[in-house]
Amino acid sequence: MSNILPLDPNLEFNVEPIWDATYPPKYRVPEQTLRHKLINNTFLPELSFTLTNSFGPQAFIAAKADPYGVLFGEPNLNRIHISQFACTKLKHGKKLLEHLLAQVPKSQPIVFGQDQGHMFPGVPTECPELINLLESLGFHRDGDLAYDLERDLRDFSINPDWLTPLSEPDLQVKTCSPTDINALEEFFIREFPGRWHYDTVIEKCKEWKEFEDIIALWQGDSIEGFAYTQNYSTSHHPTAGYVWQEDLGPQSGALGPIGVSQRVRGRKLGGALLVAGLQHLQRLGVHRCIIDWTSLVDFYGKYGFRVNRRYQPMTRPANLD
Ligand SMILES: CC(C)(COP(=O)(O)OP(=O)(O)OC[C@H]1O[C@@H](n2cnc3c(N)ncnc32)[C@H](O)[C@@H]1OP(=O)(O)O)[C@@H](O)C(=O)NCCC(=O)NCCS
Repeated sequence: MSNILPLDPNLEFNVEPIWDATYPPKYRVPEQTLRHKLINNTFLPELSFTLTNSFGPQAFIAAKADPYGVLFGEPNLNRIHISQFACTKLKHGKKLLEHLLAQVPKSQPIVFGQDQGHMFPGVPTECPELINLLESLGFHRDGDLAYDLERDLRDFSINPDWLTPLSEPDLQVKTCSPTDINALEEFFIREFPGRWHYDTVIEKCKEWKEFEDIIALWQGDSIEGFAYTQNYSTSHHPTAGYVWQEDLGPQSGALGPIGVSQRVRGRKLGGALLVAGLQHLQRLGVHRCIIDWTSLVDFYGKYGFRVNRRYQPMTRPANLD
């Protein structure tokens, strides 16, 4: 006999064994990280459940609302996100997913991951049985795989030519400080409104005050590029791929997202900013470094980054009939 109950977002049950039964060890996360990710304005308590039997909780699912329109200020896509999902046995997971699907109107698409404060950009390809289960419930494989890339920065030797594009007199790369907030705001609204603006300016800088993890490319008085970095020493809120810290090992770090403005693209400044960001992490003593949720395998591959995780984006499309 099993029961489906509302999920307590404090996750006051033994979640780690359930998580570990679902995903390979490289996706292991501390309970605290899972809990923190559910303290989020988009968390949907009415669509988040646990399945319990006489042995205790056997599966859980946490849903979030579409961050677009709610947090990111762009048109709402009206999607429901499965932020966290785990089960000791697939049959328990199936029951929970069916329960969720029964509550969501057919006009609303459902996406695995990709929420604000996400764990997953898609389903890890090491979990084919989960991909099959989702397909059997009407989810579709939604486009190309997304990748996490990694390399060890201890043996990363920087070719000085990579940094040459930064030697023009009006260009400068610096870590940010609170006095840069207006320039950051102007740059992100101009170039990357939406998720990157929210994650970098609102959450990382204004809320967490972790300005020094943001590397900015300045041209005169204006910011024209950024790299979001994280490391074991100054970053206290692991985001995106940096949630896989246990697998990354001690003294790890992360870089990404990274972007340069439309007006300076194609001048090798993106590559140079990437190298400057990696140099910053190297100086902080970072060993293994992750660049997550990307399709640019060749761009990062030139600097020795190799794929370590692959995700299949999956969506249950809206059925407008
Ligand atoms: C990706 C980005 C930072 C690259 O910066 P850039 O200054 O335009 O690129 P660079 O001049 O440094 O290009 C370096 C090399 O990467 C390649 N490259 C650039 N953008 C690429 C892309 N989107 N896909 C594949 N390769 C790319 C270039 O062709 C160039 O190759 P080459 O050295 O063989 O000629 C920039 O295009 C950007 O901001 N894009 C939008 C944001 C984004 O997609 N960021 C990455 C998210 S993971």
